[in-house]
Amino acid sequence: MPTIQLEITSGKLAGEGVITAQKKLSQLENVFQDEATRKSMDQDQLIYEVQAYMPVEEGKEGGLYFGNSTIFPGKVNNEYFMTRGHFHTKLDTAEYYWCIQGKGALILMDEEGKTWLEEMTPGSVHYIPGKIAHRVANTGDEKLVFNACWPSEAGHDYATIEKDGFGARLMEVDGKPQLVQNKKEMV
Ligand code: F6R
Ligand code: ZN
Repeated sequence: MPTIQLEITSGKLAGEGVITAQKKLSQLENVFQDEATRKSMDQDQLIYEVQAYMPVEEGKEGGLYFGNSTIFPGKVNNEYFMTRGHFHTKLDTAEYYWCIQGKGALILMDEEGKTWLEEMTPGSVHYIPGKIAHRVANTGDEKLVFNACWPSEAGHDYATIEKDGFGARLMEVDGKPQLVQNKKEMV
């Protein structure tokens, strides 16, 4: 028997060695545009949860990791709940995401700050090339679940996004998701 199991209808991973990490609103300082609103909300609210199966040591070349991410529905003011987003530390490493449940958007950005999105719906498969930063936003009313597969040597560079952000943010405008360019980008 294999050591881990994927429940294919829910995207959930189970088995020995599967780790889980949670991100609450309190841990997402300065991630959303409206920091004052984020601070005024329930800090214990769970925004997203990641399960991962990492059978080889992080940084080791040639291995693959498997992940399951769940983003809960909601917004900070008019910006959808989303992941922090990152480049891979070993920049030229790619990743697959595929959507299991819910509705959302994969927000992608190149090294020049050009930002675009791919819609996520159950069954959509997303190839994220190397050198492309990636984050996911939940634009629906239910949880958004997606699986991922990435190289064990990739690593995660969160610092670049903390410093410069993405070139655009996914906001609800007139009741619909819209990618809004950062002001800095528009001049
Ligand atoms: C791994 C990957 C995903 C994310 C997860 C949480 O390379 O892209 O497993 O790590 O969706 O997002 P972050 O890591 O941006 O908080
Ligand atoms: Zn990644």
